[in-house]
Amino acid sequence: MKFSASLSAVALAALLTDALAAPTWPSPTDDLEELMFQSTGYRTRNFADLVTPCSKSPNMPGRMNAAEWMRTAFHDMATHDIYQGGMGGLDASLMFELGRSQNNSPAFASTFVQLQQFMSSKTPMADLLALAMYASVRACGGPIVPVKGGRVDADTAGLSGVPQPEDPQGTFIAQFARMGFSIAEMVDATACGHTLGGVHSAQHPLIVPVGTAPNEYAMLDDPSQAASKFDAAIARDYVLGNTTNPLVVGPSIKYQRHADFKVFTADRNATIRTLTDETVFRQRCAVSMAKIIDTVPSSVTLGPVLEPYEVKPVRPQLYLAPGGQSLKFIGDIRILANSRAVSSVKLTWSTRSGSAGGEVTGIAAGTGGGFDDSFVFYTFDFNIPTAVGISKFTVVVNDGEIFDNNGEGFPMQDTIIYLPPQSCIPAETDEANMRQMTVTAAKLSSAPGEPTLDFAQKVARTDGVVVPRIVRQSITMNEGVRVGPYTIYEKTIAVGSTLSNRNNFDIVLGDVRDEFKFTMAMGRACAKLSGDDGPGTTSSTSTSTSTSTSSSTTPPPDTSTISTTTTSSSSTTTSPPPTSETGWSSLGCYTDSVGSRTLSVGMGVPDLTNARCQAACRAGGFKYAGTEYAQECFCGNSLASSGAAATSGCNMACQGDSSEMCGGPDRLTIWEYQGGDDTPSPTTSQPSGPTSTPFPGWTKEGCYADSAASRALSYRANIGSEMSNGKCTAACDAAGYTLAGTEFGAECFCSNTIENDHGPASSGCNMPCNAASGEVCGGPDRLTVWKRGT
Ligand SMILES: *[C@@H]1O[C@H](CO)[C@@H](O)[C@H](O)[C@H]1NC(C)=O
Ligand SMILES: *[C@@H]1O[C@H](CO)[C@@H](O)[C@H](O)[C@H]1NC(C)=O
Repeated sequence: MKFSASLSAVALAALLTDALAAPTWPSPTDDLEELMFQSTGYRTRNFADLVTPCSKSPNMPGRMNAAEWMRTAFHDMATHDIYQGGMGGLDASLMFELGRSQNNSPAFASTFVQLQQFMSSKTPMADLLALAMYASVRACGGPIVPVKGGRVDADTAGLSGVPQPEDPQGTFIAQFARMGFSIAEMVDATACGHTLGGVHSAQHPLIVPVGTAPNEYAMLDDPSQAASKFDAAIARDYVLGNTTNPLVVGPSIKYQRHADFKVFTADRNATIRTLTDETVFRQRCAVSMAKIIDTVPSSVTLGPVLEPYEVKPVRPQLYLAPGGQSLKFIGDIRILANSRAVSSVKLTWSTRSGSAGGEVTGIAAGTGGGFDDSFVFYTFDFNIPTAVGISKFTVVVNDGEIFDNNGEGFPMQDTIIYLPPQSCIPAETDEANMRQMTVTAAKLSSAPGEPTLDFAQKVARTDGVVVPRIVRQSITMNEGVRVGPYTIYEKTIAVGSTLSNRNNFDIVLGDVRDEFKFTMAMGRACAKLSGDDGPGTTSSTSTSTSTSTSSSTTPPPDTSTISTTTTSSSSTTTSPPPTSETGWSSLGCYTDSVGSRTLSVGMGVPDLTNARCQAACRAGGFKYAGTEYAQECFCGNSLASSGAAATSGCNMACQGDSSEMCGGPDRLTIWEYQGGDDTPSPTTSQPSGPTSTPFPGWTKEGCYADSAASRALSYRANIGSEMSNGKCTAACDAAGYTLAGTEFGAECFCSNTIENDHGPASSGCNMPCNAASGEVCGGPDRLTVWKRGT
């Protein structure tokens, strides 16, 4: 039968559609869906980058993000109490509970720091923790853990009761019963959770004595620390009797901390034996990890399991053309291409009154996908006379397959529209360190009511909690001029500078809204509506305008800032960081994104200039330096492939010198070190090898207390995995700080004062520097602090 292959594919698709009831667009979980499924290629949201590959550790050797993300979800959920009406569960309350001894690990704070950038009004931290479970399991080769949306973040600490290694077997059974887990489910959750990651000496010296494991880290089913994957080895080796799991064998037994043994023997090894089979292991782990993330407070109702849309509009946007006679539709349509070759995509739109508007052909824009899905994207860019308007559209794939959004058409209202070119957030801050953000919208004058700006602002918490609070405000907008059938509304508000590019907002008119706009995508200067300033001719057009060209409003290219740079000098200088570093040449403007950094190492450099960033990177021995968003400095020895040369967008003045450009939103001004030798050396000769010599001019202050939630020295200098006090003090010196501190053998922090009420500690600075074993680099929650000058 020559049609059998395609027939069965169609039949399968029909079956799946029936069984799962394809989602109708838009849905409250649309952003979560993108974060989950668009993780590579065109329009990647970069969520999975932080756990890909499985062994990824942006923190330090011997840590593994995938394992830390899974642990974070479990610790957050583990306080659920079915006896108290189902209180607690996956609700991100862990962010308030990091001071408890049961949560004694830097993993949780770093997970929250990594995930908070993806938070929005539609995507709470608790849903991100669920997604983190999916991404970390899948990135390590595990099964697909089904994810639902709809969780609600707690606003205070919850109950306590995370199981601890020293708990007796009966306590484990009672704790898991309190969470709603049977004994078999307890064994599943423990085995599946412990197939990744391990135990650190720093937190558990009675389980992994200091000096007994590589990187002071004993993995639970991977003694070589080289082949970590989501597999049944943890069960297989346990049953075979050759396990190296430190929670089963070794010193933990003497101290009654052999937790996995106590769990696995709770039903006389019955469940763990069945888990030795890889197929059974994967099936049961998918169910078990889903139970962990779906254990939520009883007040929360979760939505359906997220599936990728077959066809999904990706943030389409209407623009109002000058004079108000036409609207422009710009946006991408995403097509699921798992079992479908896409050769054409058309869009058929209906007017405001519902009659036929026209048919438009899209242009192939790119391909992308996720762990199990692939997509093609088509871009649309067409005009709509404002006299007729638009109400909805359908999508036609390959001239035959019609997608009508479950019979409703894809809705596209033109009553209230956000105007991206006429909205902006400037780089300059005022005395209170705020930016003046202007949001502009157009309302059909014939529609009743006044629009409001529904602003979801991330506000840093003052209580040491690393996850910002999302504060929602409904703000009245000011009526302005009439343009064609539309009335313009505008509002300028002050937003805090630190998180000002991480917010989102809706424009609301009654029950109609043009929603989910990101401040990250806003331009620096607002265009005026009068004049020829439609989309594609200002610096603030959205990234979806593939047809846009550079224009007269684009600031001059970055090359204007390198006139003083030389590449010929190889001599060193002993002067303090000057306004321009020698030996660096400009590579121009590059793209960047928070989830996938083009340069991997972030530096805290106050009063940023390109020269200060270059000096900080040079001190760390890096080849590339890049400035971004006026105030951020990144270093690296290679440019990630996700970064590409950009023709525009590096248009933000440096915070420390408004005459030069320091990147822009998602844009890096990149420099390459070409002068001098290739060995890392700061501006003066630096003793090599493992000595405890700090950078010249620095002296030791002593041992200080610190905590991940509230740092004693708030600027982290990620100068690579090889740490010594010399490298750290050199980095802080180059970045212009007067205090430096090394911690946990591998971390370097800088500041000008000891912050957050931390003080000297009489003990605890006892970890060797990982690149200089003869010297001490702090300890767990302890900093070896150095000071510039005497
Ligand atoms: C335990 O034995 C099995 C079977 O010989 C082997 O595949 C596995 O690698 C061993 N595990 C360890 C930790 O040595
Ligand atoms: C369970 O398995 C472990 C590891 O193989 C073994 O030491 C223990 O004796 C077994 N316990 C029971 C009750 O079978």
